[in-house]
Amino acid sequence: MCGIVGILGRHEVAPVILEALRRLEYRGYDSAGIATVNTGQLDRRRAVGKLVNLSDLLVHQPLVGKSGIGHTRWATHGAATVANAHPHRAGPVAVVHNGIIENHRALRAELAADGYEQTSETDTETVVLLTRRFLDAGMAPVQAAMATLARLEGAFALAFLFEGQDDLIVAARRGSPLAIGHGEGEMFVGSDAIALAPLTDRITYLEEGDSVVLTRTGAVIRDAAGAVVTRTVARIEMDAARVEKAGYRHFMAKEIAEQPRVLAGALEHYLGDAGLALPEGLDFTGVDRLTLVACGTAHYACAVARYWFERLAGIPCEVDIASEFRYRDPVLSPRGMAIFVSQSGETADTLAALRHVRGAVGAVVGVVNVPTSSIAREADIVLPIHAGPEIGVASTKAFTAQLLVLALMALRAADQRGRLDAAGLERHLADLRGVPGLVNAALALDAEVAEIAQHVAEAQDVLFLGRGPLFPLALEGALKLKEISYIHAEGYAAGELKHGPIALVDSHVPVVVIAPHDDLFAKTMSNMQEVMARGAQVVLFTDAAGVAEAGPGVWRTLTLPTAGWLAAPIVHAVPAQLLAYHTAVAKGTDVDQPRNLAKSVTVE
Ligand code: F6R
Repeated sequence: MCGIVGILGRHEVAPVILEALRRLEYRGYDSAGIATVNTGQLDRRRAVGKLVNLSDLLVHQPLVGKSGIGHTRWATHGAATVANAHPHRAGPVAVVHNGIIENHRALRAELAADGYEQTSETDTETVVLLTRRFLDAGMAPVQAAMATLARLEGAFALAFLFEGQDDLIVAARRGSPLAIGHGEGEMFVGSDAIALAPLTDRITYLEEGDSVVLTRTGAVIRDAAGAVVTRTVARIEMDAARVEKAGYRHFMAKEIAEQPRVLAGALEHYLGDAGLALPEGLDFTGVDRLTLVACGTAHYACAVARYWFERLAGIPCEVDIASEFRYRDPVLSPRGMAIFVSQSGETADTLAALRHVRGAVGAVVGVVNVPTSSIAREADIVLPIHAGPEIGVASTKAFTAQLLVLALMALRAADQRGRLDAAGLERHLADLRGVPGLVNAALALDAEVAEIAQHVAEAQDVLFLGRGPLFPLALEGALKLKEISYIHAEGYAAGELKHGPIALVDSHVPVVVIAPHDDLFAKTMSNMQEVMARGAQVVLFTDAAGVAEAGPGVWRTLTLPTAGWLAAPIVHAVPAQLLAYHTAVAKGTDVDQPRNLAKSVTVE
């Protein structure tokens, strides 16, 4: 994880780097730091915690210079301390790093034997000491950086800044994303295009294994083999306003509220007047097995989609967590299709899983929010979810947009495989066309949810129950609550509770039951009665028909709009998001940047 940025500017760079780091803070916020070169002098400032601490430090101890690098950290090796904060420096070189140097222990021992001792616990300091040793041996800065890169193993993005070099940054991408920004007499490098968006709209995405030598006049890019290569300069459309809070207290609140518009936009892309408008090449006809792989919330979207693909299209379907999938021996079929779902498109495990199946399945499909991401570039077929930048660490609008796109894919599969007649297809499409309006109606429950959240905020543990496609929603509801409110929460298949977890239930454990009035409603109600009989305070998410049949004794009921089988999980995601949000607000936690987390998980 971590975000890195480098600027060879025409003006003082520290404030500009700080602003770019603000846009990268979603990648980690354990500490931050900046190094600059000013008429040859290398200097740096580092501070633990949020970026605001670095910005305060810079008020008292300003950094001057028109060339600099910056970093926002998600700690991997070593606690969040100033000593472990980046940029790391060894004499005339400073480095910022995103990723993990896997052979750092061996290198560290080798360097220590040569008298180059580390002062921090990080793997990054090994990089900077290695470069210093090459410089001490008489190499020029670019040569020393290249020699360093040749010794490193792992997945990383790096940027080097050198004393005495006001017009040089060396950067490299191996496993972690890196973009170059082209300005007028200025050059930029950063972990993503969002960081560079206010500075330039001309971006080059480095390919895997690329290194780059930046000067104010341009970028010389070399591929993994060391050959100078030309990479495309793309114009990006990054509406800066879209990554602001737009009057909301938190990005998460804004992103929850945006869902009707986002979902309507995704429908517009994939559902024309003539019906489904998915990419031509997306062909499920001869597919004998579907493999859906993702992490976290995106994994739960896949878990919902399994119910859809199996019932509608009759395709055997497996769903796995990317970090497990890549290290087991999955049985893949040459006629199989593998679908990788990721908001960022950069999640290290999901990307590695994609590479793992290449050549072993018939088609590799990416469902991503960032269309320029690594997963988008490496998949055979890409379906962007069109959710727009998601900044809040807890995924909300990307989840519902992933569900919508996966539902449309399941319908395409059912249609291509002759499992739906025209009327059946139209019925499901009408269900999905209604989603933006239904989500809008679900958002109107905000005040009711906020009131319930005041009580939930008092709890130590919360359970979420669901059945069928609503079971993964229970898992997602629990994940959302625990990650931002720090309340322990678990999701269970409603029928599984009595096989152990019901032992947790007492009057202090709120139980959220997610049960639209579908074919499994009666079964879920029996499970709800079982927890109520043990004193649990039940919060029921259902629809009008569900309210009519739920019976007495339910502590709080939220009446959601009636939705069809495909739309129901999307609609029921909304109160789960709102509950997590309002509980976190009631507890006073950091909603957009919860502790220990980062938005884009580019380490395994
Ligand atoms: C939770 C959350 C994470 C992500 C996961 C995968 O709210 O956001 O669980 O879903 O880290 O990230 P992407 O979708 O970027 O691959």
